[in-house]
Amino acid sequence: MTKADPTDISRRHLLIVAGASAAVGASPFCHDAVAAPAVKPVAPSTPPPVHSAKVSLQINGSVRDLMLDTRTTLLDALREHLHLTGTKKGCDHGQCGACTVMVDGQRINSCLTLAVMHEGAKVTTIEGLGTPENLHPMQAAFVKHDGYQCGYCTPGQICSAVAVLDEIKAGVPSHVSDDLNAEPQATALEMRERMSGNICRCGAYSNIVDAMTEVAGSRA
Ligand code: FES
Ligand code: FES
Repeated sequence: MTKADPTDISRRHLLIVAGASAAVGASPFCHDAVAAPAVKPVAPSTPPPVHSAKVSLQINGSVRDLMLDTRTTLLDALREHLHLTGTKKGCDHGQCGACTVMVDGQRINSCLTLAVMHEGAKVTTIEGLGTPENLHPMQAAFVKHDGYQCGYCTPGQICSAVAVLDEIKAGVPSHVSDDLNAEPQATALEMRERMSGNICRCGAYSNIVDAMTEVAGSRA
């Protein structure tokens, strides 16, 4: 019995594979011999229609009429259309609080809400709280207690801090309130919990609490 020559098997195997490829017209070595399948032209994608709407907002006491793409966030309306750049864009995803403003007296992450949802609303930004010559008490307390370093989060922190003290004063309980029926107090724990949506990369938290404590005390 003679042993099969391994080179002979390889040669035959190669011929079989080549023959099969030629039969289906798919030889990768001979593009010219086989007509390529027709490629259907793809219609150019059309951009989505832009829907604009008129919206009227009371920004820091002034009525402002805007014509906006309905997808415009309140944050972009403030910064890009009204050039009120005091309100900061940090994450643009509702996670840092840098964009906090007050809408009808309640704080809100302006990056998470569309401007057209607030027709006629009263919007207060950091520019509307005080002026360099006449600071809001919370602004003055932040300066006094060094409640910032780079200052990027500060406008949102101050708007939030003002709203937090209003919430406590109005008797709104928080996650850390022991008794939901008792009047909440402006303790450090309450303030820290309520400010937990405002992130400060510089870590000015303890000084922010000191500033808030001073303002809360002066309100009592
Ligand atoms: Fe809005 Fe961060 S920019 S929460
Ligand atoms: Fe820098 Fe808060 S002061 S991020």
